[in-house]
Amino acid sequence: MRKSVRVGLVGAGFAATFHLESLRRVYGVEVDVVGVTSLREKSRKAFARRHGLKAFDTLDAMLDAVDMVDIVSPPYAHEDGILKAVAAGKGVLCEKPLTGYFGPPGADKAWRGDQAPKKDMLRQTLKRMERLAKTIRDSGAFFGYAENYVYAPSVQKEREIIEKTGAQILRMIGEESHNGSGSSAYGIWRLAGGGSLMGKGCHPLSGMLYMKQVEGLARNGKPIRPAAVSARTHQLTRIEDYRDAGFIRTDYHDIEDYGMMHVVFEDGTVCDTLTCEIVLGGLFDYLEVFANNHRTRCHISPAGLMDTYNPKGAQFKDVYLIEKASTKEGWSPAAADEHFTVGYIAEMQDFMLCAASGEKPQAGLELALDTIAVIYAAYLSDEKKGAEIPVRLL
Ligand SMILES: NC(=O)c1ccc[n+]([C@@H]2O[C@H](COP(=O)([O-])OP(=O)(O)OC[C@H]3O[C@@H](n4cnc5c(N)ncnc54)[C@H](O)[C@@H]3O)[C@@H](O)[C@H]2O)c1
Repeated sequence: MRKSVRVGLVGAGFAATFHLESLRRVYGVEVDVVGVTSLREKSRKAFARRHGLKAFDTLDAMLDAVDMVDIVSPPYAHEDGILKAVAAGKGVLCEKPLTGYFGPPGADKAWRGDQAPKKDMLRQTLKRMERLAKTIRDSGAFFGYAENYVYAPSVQKEREIIEKTGAQILRMIGEESHNGSGSSAYGIWRLAGGGSLMGKGCHPLSGMLYMKQVEGLARNGKPIRPAAVSARTHQLTRIEDYRDAGFIRTDYHDIEDYGMMHVVFEDGTVCDTLTCEIVLGGLFDYLEVFANNHRTRCHISPAGLMDTYNPKGAQFKDVYLIEKASTKEGWSPAAADEHFTVGYIAEMQDFMLCAASGEKPQAGLELALDTIAVIYAAYLSDEKKGAEIPVRLL
């Protein structure tokens, strides 16, 4: 087991911050976050200064200084970062979603993902994933898929219940919704690879795919994987009579703001994902398991640790309450240690220990691949108004 892991961040935005803060809480292995690179010089230098890191102009320039590349850039940039890191013999952590389809070469503003043919999109995405998977597998590089739902304490407790009771999961329902992402890349298909299904739906979907992996491994030593999907998406903030009250983000270029996916697994059991950009009141993230021997509701956010009442918003101006709440007035489901309750801390802990010991993390390459294979099959299903589409596994 190696004693220390040197990490370099690719991206200096929202996710870079919670990755860094969580990496700094890892114990049992020494983690040294040495530097950051990102697209814009000004923001990467500001991020580096704020957190005491070295700013590198490019990923190539950072590679020699690190053992692990932590990819927290927008989805369109993930593949390039992964390939460079793996070619240099480095381990990789990659934020969700692994990769996707970002338009034909040279796609600009005029290209619209919501209107592009989805069969070709699926085919091209599978090809890209095949290449990516082969490169990672052939290299033997460490790969951690940063899907926090897997690591939320409630989901890990449910893992224990499934493993120790030999439960059979018959159906699940999961959701991640809020009032719209803060990232400037979000809402533009050629940067994000899709809309709600990709940006948010991937979380509960991966959480539920993980649950069936756990069930299969516990009972038969083999994960149970997704077989088919039916899906619908909508652009609810763009219906003709939408009345914008100013609380929900609406400036999307070419993506859906509502989506649902119905997945049938190899064993005939099912899970349903709901996701959207039109929920007020902060993150609305949960995952519910209906098994043959128990039922569990995992509260991802709000996690239910604390409610606070504030009669005057201004009093709490310097108090962080919960992600995506648009007011601090009245009752709030305040997040007490949100990094812990949504799984960021356990995620980095698992990745760093596994990278040091050579073991496989709970959220690895297969989960990342299955998630994207389902989502792009879901986009094709949506184009066919919900027809069932087989999921091709890699
Ligand atoms: N797990 C979660 O809860 C969660 C939450 C938010 C975002 N994310 C994921 O994290 C990733 C980043 O999202 P974000 O919200 O931090 O976005 P952001 O817009 O806040 O930050 C993105 C950063 O990447 C940099 N960047 C852009 N293109 C780049 C390129 N080609 N090469 C290198 N750097 C580049 C930008 O300069 C910026 O510093 C996305 O994949 C997103 O899906 C995950």
